[in-house]
Amino acid sequence: MDLKLKNRRFLVTAASRGLGFSVAKALVQEGAGVTICGRTEDSLKKAVSALGERVRYVVSDVSTEKDVKRLIGDVQSVSPRLDGLFVNAGGPSPGTFSALSDHDWYSSFDLTVMSAVHLTRYALPLLRKSDGPSILYSTSISVKQPLENLLLSNALRPAVVGMMRTLADELGPEGFRLNAVCPGYIHTKRVEEIMSKSKDTESEESIKARIPLRRMGQPDEYGAVCAFLLSPAASYIHGALLLVDGGLYRGMM
Ligand SMILES: NC(=O)c1ccc[n+]([C@@H]2O[C@H](COP(=O)([O-])OP(=O)(O)OC[C@H]3O[C@@H](n4cnc5c(N)ncnc54)[C@H](OP(=O)(O)O)[C@@H]3O)[C@@H](O)[C@H]2O)c1
Repeated sequence: MDLKLKNRRFLVTAASRGLGFSVAKALVQEGAGVTICGRTEDSLKKAVSALGERVRYVVSDVSTEKDVKRLIGDVQSVSPRLDGLFVNAGGPSPGTFSALSDHDWYSSFDLTVMSAVHLTRYALPLLRKSDGPSILYSTSISVKQPLENLLLSNALRPAVVGMMRTLADELGPEGFRLNAVCPGYIHTKRVEEIMSKSKDTESEESIKARIPLRRMGQPDEYGAVCAFLLSPAASYIHGALLLVDGGLYRGMM
């Protein structure tokens, strides 16, 4: 299938490794040009050298409005048009209710919710110049069912889905497509860190035993789904929430 991504321009945030990197990689393999961001220049340089010449980077912390504004300004300085935005950030701190401070709540709100608000707000004028603009929000299976010891993810990510569904109504008539994707366990550094810090319930074997496919996903499997959803090939998918979880979510709907 031709995803029709040749020469289209994308911004993929939090993408020096992990899920964001896999999405940038899939888009580039289809012929798109991609800007990636992250907070650490060395990691971004390594990512760009692995991804090739159609990728450029901007050092940016998406949890701060100032950095998001500068990031979008930088993207605009290269081209006034953006065809797609993949909204991604680092994960909020793990912890139970009693372990989390107000500071944890507010900083995770900035990281998880306000990053999505600011990226959407400042990218809209560039996306309006595309003939088929698309925004894809990377969330988590935690928007469908709570994950143990991840209260902040369980509480805050649903706000991003609420925003996506509302924007689907507001921006659909203009030709925008907006969707969200919900990873279960995709084998990245973050998942390795969560496993190493937690008890037996989150060991690799116990996680795999709960997944009907009996394995974690590979980042490339996530990247391929996201590149499709961002592409013109998914032209009638709008306002959707897609799980990429090997069957882990147990609900019927
Ligand atoms: N992997 C999974 O199975 C899974 C499942 C559900 C949800 N998620 C969520 O998906 C997101 C990505 O996870 P991942 O597994 O790809 O993690 P990862 O392997 O740790 O990669 C995180 C990436 O985000 C960048 N980053 C972190 N904070 C950032 C910030 N404030 N601004 C800009 N870039 C930032 C990191 O680079 P720097 O550190 O250099 O900034 C890195 O490139 C997280 O929110 C995670 O909670 C992942």
